[in-house]
Amino acid sequence: TSASPAALLDLARDIAERAAGVALEARRKGISIAATKSTPTDVVTAVDRDTETLIRSLILDARPDDGILGEEEDTHVGTSGIDWVVDPIDGTVNLLYGIPAWSVSVAVVQGPPDPAHWRALAGVVVNPVSGEVYEASAGGGARRNGVAIHPNPDVALSRALVATGFGYAAEQRQRQARALLHLLPRVRDIRRIGSAALDLCWVASGRLDAFYESGLNPWDHAAGALIAREAGAIVGGAGGGPESSELLIAAAASVYDDLAALIAEAQAGA
Ligand code: IPD
Repeated sequence: TSASPAALLDLARDIAERAAGVALEARRKGISIAATKSTPTDVVTAVDRDTETLIRSLILDARPDDGILGEEEDTHVGTSGIDWVVDPIDGTVNLLYGIPAWSVSVAVVQGPPDPAHWRALAGVVVNPVSGEVYEASAGGGARRNGVAIHPNPDVALSRALVATGFGYAAEQRQRQARALLHLLPRVRDIRRIGSAALDLCWVASGRLDAFYESGLNPWDHAAGALIAREAGAIVGGAGGGPESSELLIAAAASVYDDLAALIAEAQAGA
């Protein structure tokens, strides 16, 4: 059941595109909240659940020995040492409101199921509404709809367009808002797109200069972080360490260190 990153990417793309088609069709038929999760604002729709079920069955048909870590269902433990990390819909609130910034995110990783320790082999993020397909494989570069992408060169912190996101718990949001107070006057502007996977792809392709968020789950960033790195962005976490649920920062190389220092200051004061 071993396969090259390029072969895994072909399979991941096929699965993510099929899932995107099904999610878009379901979106057209109408969306409603199926349940709330950690808090009343943390919603799940039937589209999230149906899309994850489809993705799981496509993965297990093709590679029955692999594991699956996903947002909506229990972890499936595999035996091959390869795991799929899946967010069927990243940006569920945007989907609910018809804001065209939500995505299907599919990553393939090797090693322990922890972003600080695994090796990402392949990643695909599809925006079903725009038809944009972002992808990367380890060592193979990053592309949008087949064309190589790169972050913006020569960005200074004061000119950087920086995106962030917020968790669902009230106390966490309060901390995140306080940290933002320190950042906002020191950068070009702030965006809150609402899909961490797209934020990372947009850093990879120069629509943003940087993205950071604390409290992400592995499925929010597994594919996007590989795409950003392969495009040439720097991706890391707190104190120069790897990205984790504590903190993920992705930025154009020229702005990364200054932004990481500013975020550390902001979080210390928050
Ligand atoms: C959320 C989005 C959002 C981020 C949240 C995530 P979901 O994912 O990526 O941009 O700020 O932290 O939970 O819930 O839509 O899959």
